Amino acid sequence: MTVEGQHDIDGILNAGRVVARVRDAMLSAVEPGMTTAELDHLGAQLLDRLGAKSAPRVTYNFPGATCISVNEEAAHGIPGDRIIQAGDVVNVDVSAELDGYFADTGGTIAVPPAARVKAKLCHATELALKNAITEARAGAPINRIGQAIQRTARAHGFKVIMNLAGHGIGRSLHEEPEGIACFYDRLDTRRLQLGQVLAIEPFLSTKSTQVKEADDGWTLVGHPENLSAQFEHTIIVTRGAPIVATLSEACG
Ligand code: CO
Ligand code: CO
Repeated sequence: MTVEGQHDIDGILNAGRVVARVRDAMLSAVEPGMTTAELDHLGAQLLDRLGAKSAPRVTYNFPGATCISVNEEAAHGIPGDRIIQAGDVVNVDVSAELDGYFADTGGTIAVPPAARVKAKLCHATELALKNAITEARAGAPINRIGQAIQRTARAHGFKVIMNLAGHGIGRSLHEEPEGIACFYDRLDTRRLQLGQVLAIEPFLSTKSTQVKEADDGWTLVGHPENLSAQFEHTIIVTRGAPIVATLSEACG
């Protein structure tokens, strides 16, 4: 959507605050021995308490309140009886609807003790998101977002997943502009517009550049030995630095 005034901005900010809180609560609750279903349950309860509805559930009838993807799973992992282990790379993606507005966010952690490369992967992906957001301003080419992500990945020795992308958001979970790539697509001539609401979500990986759907019909997986990380923010495009709706409370 494109925000048309303060009412819309507040709507996105309120939805953003909720998903950011749930994301942070879930990521700090991760510990070895818990199942992804237990982690999801925590997210579901908090969403409920904050008056929001799980977006993947209401939009796609996803079998969980949040998406939890571990190790070789890149995205859309179904919460279940998988037990989280030390050294796992755990991605939590939380999107929700509040008062008719949607926001989407995600983050990834390496459960300690973990190999150095796993922490580095998470750090590089978070930095890729930050660098991508810096490129997002009204009038700028959309493909600068992917360019910033790909540059950051390469600088840290990682790849990007080319068939996962960011998207417009606001009145529904996935809207135009769709397909905000994690790489520099020179054929993409679109430009960002003032007030556009976007979910930017870099996926960096150690091995795979493509993911495919698993037999469960949801989970997107790479090579069995691949590790990937995703960080995601919902932003509102302005003429200057965008408004980031899904920052951690500690950061403002
Ligand atoms: Co998401
Ligand atoms: Co998204």
